[in-house]
Amino acid sequence: MIKVLFVCLGNICRSPMAEGIFRQLVEQAGLSGQITCDSAGTSSYHIGDLPDRRMRQTSKSYGIELTHCARQLHRRDFEEFDYLVAMDESNYAHIASHTGYRSEHKDKVLLMRTHDEIPSVSNVPDPYYGQLDEFEEVYRILLHANKRFLNYLIQRHKLAE
Ligand code: 4NP
Repeated sequence: MIKVLFVCLGNICRSPMAEGIFRQLVEQAGLSGQITCDSAGTSSYHIGDLPDRRMRQTSKSYGIELTHCARQLHRRDFEEFDYLVAMDESNYAHIASHTGYRSEHKDKVLLMRTHDEIPSVSNVPDPYYGQLDEFEEVYRILLHANKRFLNYLIQRHKLAE
């Protein structure tokens, strides 16, 4: 089983949506028996909270129900997951400075937009202080990036769809 952890700051906006979109793509590809996913935040701000209402509303309009309860990144996540996918460079830096992080974990920490074709744009923007249309924009970015990330996993691990 390949285990993927999506990571943002609060674990109530970007990473739970990334988790929901990715899970839907994995199911559509018939790969649920081979890939599993979860999400976490680098901060403790929203531990136990459901995703932001605007994020749930946006996801629901695309057929994705977000029921994840926010949790904080833990040192055991570095052993448990094969990939830790950061939403932005700040999350990435936080992961790399976490007490659970060791140099041999470097290859499993990625930026969500690493596989996008626009190499100069590396961050999934944080919509928390934005308007509803910014949540829509994050959905589009995450759908695109997750399709590419899943294709990368399929090729790298020679998964049969
Ligand atoms: P997220 O968004 O990292 O995508 O979950 C945020 C959620 C909450 C806060 C910041 C960003 N906050 O400052 O509470």
